[in-house]
Amino acid sequence: FLEMLIDTYAKFIEEWGKQLRREPYEKACMQVHKRLQVINEEMSNQRGWICIKEITWRVKTPDSCLNKMLDKGYAADVELAAEKLNDIAGVRAVCYFLDDMYQVMEMLRTTPGYEFIKVKDYVKKPKASGYQSLHLIMKIPVGEQMVKVETQIRTQAMDFWSDIEHHFVYKTNNLNIEECEEEFLKCSKSIRKIDKQMLKIRRKIENTQ
Ligand code: GTP
Ligand code: MG
Repeated sequence: FLEMLIDTYAKFIEEWGKQLRREPYEKACMQVHKRLQVINEEMSNQRGWICIKEITWRVKTPDSCLNKMLDKGYAADVELAAEKLNDIAGVRAVCYFLDDMYQVMEMLRTTPGYEFIKVKDYVKKPKASGYQSLHLIMKIPVGEQMVKVETQIRTQAMDFWSDIEHHFVYKTNNLNIEECEEEFLKCSKSIRKIDKQMLKIRRKIENTQ
């Protein structure tokens, strides 16, 4: 039985490693990346500062796809993974200001051909860990296909927090981390405050100009 299971896992990983499987997701990421660059140019011209500091993307590794399927209690089935995993194609945009994040979302929403499936607003309602970001589950056209992409939009401060928290807590098996979790939650609250203060300062300056 164990051999059979290992065989199933190996096949799953082999299939997700194939270029033909990954290509639509790569193309989808590159397309959203390009669209975000255009949005950035438009917004930055209008506002007078660079609105998106950084745009990155990645296609989830086969290993990571398998782990997530098993974590979620699903079988290691390739087609099921394509259906259930929202973040095989993942794009991230890092902004300076809170209001720019929402503007970027609206500009993506009105992009012809883009279909929004779900918006998870972890800024309005942070996760228990303190994690904040705006997650857009979208479908975008790649050739004849509609491909699912998860776009994460966050401020630089949120990005700073989640990079570090991701490294030390999220998805690690570290059991002695409870105290740190509390500290991370405190930091997340400070970051919330700072993001709001920065927006306030910017608006104050704009009003005096
Ligand atoms: P997973 O959390 O990855 O199992 O996906 P999900 O289907 O539960 O969706 P969710 O919106 O919770 O998370 C999607 C992605 O957001 C993750 O892959 C991470 O990149 C990020 N994320 C979610 N929660 C946390 C968190 O507590 N800390 C950090 N650092 N990142 C998180
Ligand atoms: Mg999660």
